[in-house]
Amino acid sequence: MTAGSADSSRGAITFPTNFVWGAATAAFQIEGSTTVDGRTDSIWDTFCRVPGAVVNGDTGEPAVDHYRRMREDVRLMADLGLPAYRFSVAWPRVRPDAGPVNSAGLDFYERLVDTLLEHDITPWVTLYHWDLPQTLEDQGGWANRETAYRFAEYAESVLVRLGDRVSNWTTLNEPYCSAFLGYGNGVHAPGRTDPRATVAAVHHLLLAHGLGLAAIRAHAPNASAGVTVNLYPVRPADPDSPEDVEVARRVDGLQNRIFLDPLLRGAYPEDVLADLEPFGLADHIAASDLQTISAPLDLLGVNYYTVHNVTARPEPTDRQNTDRPSEWLGVETIGFRGLNRPRTAMDWEVHPDGLTEVLLRLNREYPKIPLYITENGAAYHDSVVDGGIHDPDRVAFLDGHLRAAHAALSAGVDLRGYFCWSLLDNFEWAEGYAKRFGIVHVDYETQVRTPKLSARWYSQVVRDNGLPA
Ligand code: NOJ
Repeated sequence: MTAGSADSSRGAITFPTNFVWGAATAAFQIEGSTTVDGRTDSIWDTFCRVPGAVVNGDTGEPAVDHYRRMREDVRLMADLGLPAYRFSVAWPRVRPDAGPVNSAGLDFYERLVDTLLEHDITPWVTLYHWDLPQTLEDQGGWANRETAYRFAEYAESVLVRLGDRVSNWTTLNEPYCSAFLGYGNGVHAPGRTDPRATVAAVHHLLLAHGLGLAAIRAHAPNASAGVTVNLYPVRPADPDSPEDVEVARRVDGLQNRIFLDPLLRGAYPEDVLADLEPFGLADHIAASDLQTISAPLDLLGVNYYTVHNVTARPEPTDRQNTDRPSEWLGVETIGFRGLNRPRTAMDWEVHPDGLTEVLLRLNREYPKIPLYITENGAAYHDSVVDGGIHDPDRVAFLDGHLRAAHAALSAGVDLRGYFCWSLLDNFEWAEGYAKRFGIVHVDYETQVRTPKLSARWYSQVVRDNGLPA
């Protein structure tokens, strides 16, 4: 069987041979040890100190102490039979204060990669999962073009050390969140609320991707490389309402196409450029930027969680502009209307069909490129009963989304892998530790790891390379 085809001949849902199965994490969410071996503050360390910024005043300490428990965590993955592990490298460990290379910081990732390889687990490295060195934020952060060049230098340092051993790289994770949540509505670090800075950040993140990709090509010429974006179907609540259709166009532009088009087509969408004209997106685009940004990719990582059902006429009960593009982007009001579907502990509606839709859209509207689901999963209110964690909701969520992914495969999408979010319960950004996404439970008092029912279930899926019919 070839990639992109799916074998259902045995009455089961079977994934292609060589389909990549894994679990994902990110440095700041799991590592802790934020002041050891030369690491300095990232924007998230600073943001966590702002009263009220993170639920319960939670911080990156001790997270799940992965920095010190790395070998135990790799053994856990091996016990679960996970063939691949997606993690991120912390920029402030590798280039503290955005200064010279800190060898001790790189040593940790070298140990991690070597330990993974000893256990036959394929490392998938993300270079940037939101932990910008605070020193760079002090110089303007992602709103400053220079940050993209600093990222390229940092990427090169990681590549020089790990490029001989790591064959799968992504530059950025979810640049949407870095730009719009970090600089737009301020719910993520660095907590700014500045439209002009937001659109500057969008462009500089994309530029950083392109420059980082060049570093990967230079130092790991045989590696597969790409970038991860978070995509959502954006549906007008009332498809017959021109106002709702217009809001959906705008939100889709800022959520999805503002990243996909430059990356995969080499140009920002005209309508997005027009929407953002008041905030000067075009002012940041230098002559060869779009060429740099659209350099060919080997893969696109897709993070998928839910759909956006948007309306121009929100009701008081609708979610309004909470963590989404907001009024200052030229839309009077955006409401997110519920569709009466089950919700996760994040209050996100469960829509497996949206995953199929996103994958089919990529296949239909963009140049074909191998796709990987680099994140998919759910937070639920898990409880420990007799030492075990029975999380049937999470199992149902994963099961539904894997079937939805398989439906896309059956329709001809070149989907090559799936990473569950997350391996471990961890620091869920502004939500702190209260929201648990792990398939492995972490007791935050003792740091004891306990695989949940979902981990056992996922382990079986991986072993079977599929699901029962
Ligand atoms: C997106 C992010 O990449 C990850 O860090 C986060 O924890 C999950 N989605 C869940 O919100």
